[in-house]
Amino acid sequence: MNRVTLLSRSPRETEGVGRCLGSILARGAFVALRGELGSGKTCFTRGIVAGSAPSSAHLVASPTYAVMNEYPGETPVYHFDFYRLAGGGGEIAELGFEEYFTGDGICVCEWSERLGDLLPEEHLTVTMEHGGDDRRTITIEAAGPGMEAVLGRFAELAKPAHFL
Ligand SMILES: Nc1ncnc2c1ncn2[C@@H]1O[C@H](COP(=O)(O)OP(=O)(O)O)[C@@H](O)[C@H]1O
Ligand SMILES: [Mg+2]
Repeated sequence: MNRVTLLSRSPRETEGVGRCLGSILARGAFVALRGELGSGKTCFTRGIVAGSAPSSAHLVASPTYAVMNEYPGETPVYHFDFYRLAGGGGEIAELGFEEYFTGDGICVCEWSERLGDLLPEEHLTVTMEHGGDDRRTITIEAAGPGMEAVLGRFAELAKPAHFL
């Protein structure tokens, strides 16, 4: 499977969708988040951490100023926010973040558009869009066979009520 679209009606539902995905991600997974400010990227990340490194979920906050937050767990989660960095990937490479992309944890990246060529070949792209009030559409796309398998498993596990 390489694409699913879901509807969330509340921050809690967005976290629930993220938690479902986080529970099946393994070390080495890369999640590229897209969507304007306030579309729910950090909320979704909190869900991913709740599913993959639960003892750290309460720590999830926007790393807009820190650029990266690390959430410890059996599989650690590295949470990036490249909003303030230049596009094309040059600045990101200079800061040495690439080594995390092939490291021991799960990488979740807000403003992944800035990565340019640094985006790993195997990844999931999660695009969040405002749908008015508390509605958000969440589209998850898989690149690479490993991630297609992950997305297939996600589609089996996620609550049918969420699918569009
Ligand atoms: N369905 C929803 N999913 C996620 N966030 C929502 C939803 N409805 C309302 N919100 C609100 O939208 C904001 C999303 O913020 P945040 O996750 O920080 O977005 P981003 O990281 O994309 O800038 C929060 O204030 C949250 O309470
Ligand atoms: Mg954010």
